[in-house]
Amino acid sequence: MRVSFIGAGHVGKALAKYISNHVDLVYFNSRSKSSAEKACKYVNCLYGDLETLVNESDMIFITTSDNAISSVAKDLTSFDVKGKTFVHTSGAMTSDELQELKALGAFTCSMHPLQTFSDTDKAVMDLKQAYFALEGDTDKLMDLVSKTCNPYFILSKEQKNKYHLSACIFSNYLVTLMNYGSRILSSIGIEEEDGLKAMKPLIEATLSNIHLKGTEKALTGPIQRADTKTLEKHMTELDGLDLEAYRLLGEMTTDRLIMDKDKKSILDAMWRK
Ligand SMILES: NC(=O)c1ccc[n+]([C@@H]2O[C@H](COP(=O)([O-])OP(=O)(O)OC[C@H]3O[C@@H](n4cnc5c(N)ncnc54)[C@H](OP(=O)(O)O)[C@@H]3O)[C@@H](O)[C@H]2O)c1
Repeated sequence: MRVSFIGAGHVGKALAKYISNHVDLVYFNSRSKSSAEKACKYVNCLYGDLETLVNESDMIFITTSDNAISSVAKDLTSFDVKGKTFVHTSGAMTSDELQELKALGAFTCSMHPLQTFSDTDKAVMDLKQAYFALEGDTDKLMDLVSKTCNPYFILSKEQKNKYHLSACIFSNYLVTLMNYGSRILSSIGIEEEDGLKAMKPLIEATLSNIHLKGTEKALTGPIQRADTKTLEKHMTELDGLDLEAYRLLGEMTTDRLIMDKDKKSILDAMWRK
């Protein structure tokens, strides 16, 4: 399978390098020729103008920013795209971004790698363990993931928004929670670097418990014990958004994770105060 990429950013470079052992990587193109050329060097392929790239590839990845996917797709409609597979890697957008190509007889799909790509070399290594979320005309993509041996989900267009929402909660709000805890520690003189180091065993043990037992059984601490005196004491240290967040997360934890009816009603009465 001859594969090319348009969009020489974090994902384009890492994904191209990762699949390069399994496919025939032919061309890279990007908005700026200099980033495309850097990518060509990194993955060992050629720079190609868009027409050559389309003519000489079976599968074309559009790894631009989400905003640019549909306009790049539109630019490609002037070439012979029939029977070729076009893939974008956005988690939020569906293959509808490529509908103008589909209307011309192309196969269109999305393939979201479920990981972050801040460091390219590390991302290439991490891709070995990554799940892919596939949506649209997925036949050729399944051939690809069967070669790379990555696990995958197949999603409908309707499911993609909730899938991406969930991934953002797992990834982004974990950062927000770490920042929340760090700010409280730094208010007593323990700066973020030290605080995160000190909390690492607790964080890792919690993650490991979640994976071993599931979220419900992994919960420990004052909410799980219905220790309302401790929870009320915590709240005396907080104000503004931090206090609102503590209460809201507490109410959500009580509602979703506390199954014991007696504990639940003790906690509910306290949150309502
Ligand atoms: N970053 C992540 O962790 C991650 C994870 C999973 C999926 N994704 C998805 O993967 C896609 C790419 O994300 P990214 O993080 O790799 O973005 P990025 O690092 O910002 O790279 C995007 C690249 O697209 C190129 N580009 C922008 N507009 C273009 C156009 N009109 N024509 C041709 N090339 C264009 C830019 O090229 P120049 O350098 O030439 O200007 C840039 O290098 C997005 O759909 C994103 O949602 C990202």
